Amino acid sequence: MRQVASAVFVLTARSGEEANGLTAASLCPVSTEPPLVLVSLNRDSAAERLIAESGAFAINFLTEEQHRIARLFTGTEATPEERFAEGGWDRLVTGAPVLDGALATFDCQVEKQISHGTHTIVFGRVVAALSLDEEGLIWRDGSFRRLAPVV
Ligand SMILES: Cc1cc2nc3c(=O)[nH]c(=O)nc-3n(C[C@H](O)[C@H](O)[C@H](O)COP(=O)(O)O)c2cc1C
Repeated sequence: MRQVASAVFVLTARSGEEANGLTAASLCPVSTEPPLVLVSLNRDSAAERLIAESGAFAINFLTEEQHRIARLFTGTEATPEERFAEGGWDRLVTGAPVLDGALATFDCQVEKQISHGTHTIVFGRVVAALSLDEEGLIWRDGSFRRLAPVV
């Protein structure tokens, strides 16, 4: 899997005053009518707990320029406050944090959750979506990268 390139997003959730998120790559489109996606989240992550509490989450696909945000939302170095100090954050419909200038944003209500092994699969119904015509951030072989055209 190290050799496989993935688009990178920051998944966010908010429960009351507490907001957090994580850098992830496990989004899969599920259905167009209704519009459904799924993500796979480690059960130990703060985001998994906040999603369970709030019933909502946001997917923020990152542009190349937002690579610092990708680093902030993975690992244990940054506090939740430090994570959200970089970039501008807003709300759409559900209240989950939405990143200004993200490549694509899906604001989601939880439809269903299935826990198996170390992870929880969360199905989300997309209730709002935005996108920009920018270059997306890529993860491959242990580092964040730019996507270059072949011709
Ligand atoms: C490119 C990339 C993709 C990742 N994808 C996922 C994912 O799909 N699901 C997941 O649970 N963690 C994923 N992670 C790991 C989380 O970002 C990491 O465990 C994070 O520290 C969890 O946040 P927390 O420690 O604040 O709970 C990914 C990390 C990277 C760098």
